[in-house]
Amino acid sequence: MLLKEIAPKHLFFILLLLVTSNTNAFSALPNNAVHLSQYHNRRVITTIRMTRAKQSSSSGTKSASKNTTKMKSNNVRWAIRGIAGEILHNVFLRQISRARKYLGTSKQQRLEEAKKVRLPIKNETALITGATGGIGSKMAHELAFRGYDVIIAARNADLGKDLVLDIQRELENSSSSTIKGTKQTPNISFMEYHADIHLSALDVASKLAVLNETKPLTVLINNAGIMGKAEQLSMKVNLLGPVTLTLALLPLMMKNCNDDKKNVKIINVSSSAHLRATGVFDEEDLRSSSKSLMNIFPDTKDEDLSTYAKSKLALLQFSTLLRHKLPKDNKIQVFDAHPGLVWTPLLRNHIGDKATNTLQKTGLASLIYKSPTEGSRALLAALDHPAGTSEEQLYFVNGQPGGFASPESRDLQQSQQLLDRLIAPELEGIVELPDGW
Ligand SMILES: *[C@@H]1O[C@H](CO)[C@@H](O)[C@H](O)[C@H]1NC(C)=O
Ligand SMILES: *[C@@H]1O[C@H](CO)[C@@H](O)[C@H](O)[C@H]1NC(C)=O
Ligand SMILES: *[C@@H]1O[C@H](CO)[C@@H](O)[C@H](O)[C@H]1NC(C)=O
Ligand SMILES: *[C@@H]1O[C@H](CO)[C@@H](O)[C@H](O)[C@H]1NC(C)=O
Ligand SMILES: *[C@@H]1O[C@H](CO)[C@@H](O)[C@H](O)[C@H]1NC(C)=O
Ligand SMILES: *[C@@H]1O[C@H](CO)[C@@H](O)[C@H](O)[C@H]1NC(C)=O
Repeated sequence: MLLKEIAPKHLFFILLLLVTSNTNAFSALPNNAVHLSQYHNRRVITTIRMTRAKQSSSSGTKSASKNTTKMKSNNVRWAIRGIAGEILHNVFLRQISRARKYLGTSKQQRLEEAKKVRLPIKNETALITGATGGIGSKMAHELAFRGYDVIIAARNADLGKDLVLDIQRELENSSSSTIKGTKQTPNISFMEYHADIHLSALDVASKLAVLNETKPLTVLINNAGIMGKAEQLSMKVNLLGPVTLTLALLPLMMKNCNDDKKNVKIINVSSSAHLRATGVFDEEDLRSSSKSLMNIFPDTKDEDLSTYAKSKLALLQFSTLLRHKLPKDNKIQVFDAHPGLVWTPLLRNHIGDKATNTLQKTGLASLIYKSPTEGSRALLAALDHPAGTSEEQLYFVNGQPGGFASPESRDLQQSQQLLDRLIAPELEGIVELPDGW
């Protein structure tokens, strides 16, 4: 019955959606959202950027759209090592660990445990992008309760400000369950940030540079992402956005990690969907003489979500590169994390009311899926992880280090190609690549 309702022809997309964490993913993004008015101070760069964007869209897009239909994919690998593993985790391992947690505890203790406990203030700032919905907003809550000052960097100011109020109220309300020395309340704030506009990342970075030094930025969570929108926009938001923001904030974060007590981390919200892609480009793309390969991603809708998969692979490749290129003595840790299958409002919207009701009535929803809070904890597990971990440990799945990341995502040569052929040309004149890249 269930299978009948979730029409088989949609199964593929449903599976994809199941593993998507960022619920923000689907938030309505105008296709050519360019709000440059607030960036007057950078008008010069803006102009260069707009001119280049125009050139590229007129020269490349049309011929490229035919070629992007072919994607070297690895759906079987993804179905087995991604989806099946995640279902098994949620259905069995998660239930066992829940049961173990409550075994032998009284009802009273359980209630205590369920109550939120605020940790003492940390005097550190965490920035999370795209956090106004779903798992992102839960992560913002969790960060605040861990004592971080939280900056919610997102597109929608109304939603962002509501979330700030929400977290502040919750922090105040939880004063009864604080632990010793938790009188001070972390500062929760909102900053407008558009992942598809490079200058917006620079704007955020310049605001952060003047933050009170007593609260250094130590945590950056690249959570914003989209799925199923125009292909080129997907690459912009899912890859170039986090790359620009990370590079713009890197000098500040490197400075902040000189203090041994600070735990400086960059966490990207990734997805097992990256297992579908065997490369961001194919041989033919690489033979192209265009300066930037952004042109191979047309402005048409990413129907089969292959560009989504590529953008997630590309992000992992960039992490690989970053780990490789950061000076050996620096203490920044770069993690990727995938929350597993999570029951989010957007997933429900997508599969429709009928399937949603069935999944809920039968209890399958809570059996197969994590709650958004569980999803956010699975991601934040990377934050609690001790320093000095080997490369294999740096991809977190279901809150555990050492998740299966594809060999392509660790391929230095492919990662370097990505940098040389797409990232570097796109970011030219916007943000400087560190020396030696
Ligand atoms: C698309 O593919 C055709 C043949 O497969 C090739 O001639 C053409 O150059 C390709 N276009 C782009 C933009 O890669
Ligand atoms: C944070 O700063 C406040 C005020 O400067 C101080 O009282 C508190 O001990 C500090 N907390 C930590 C964890 O350093
Ligand atoms: C605050 O706590 C009270 C009592 O525990 C609860 O009824 C109320 O919903 C809480 N408000 C918020 C905003 O969490
Ligand atoms: C809270 O953080 C924002 C930056 O995100 C800053 O502008 C503001 O001054 C901070 N407020 C306090 C009380 O520290
Ligand atoms: C920074 O924060 C500290 C402690 O909260 C405060 O005493 C100091 O005045 C602040 N400095 C600036 C420049 O806001
Ligand atoms: C997140 O992505 C950005 C941009 O690709 C990259 O600079 C950074 O290394 C990534 N971080 C992690 C933890 O993968």
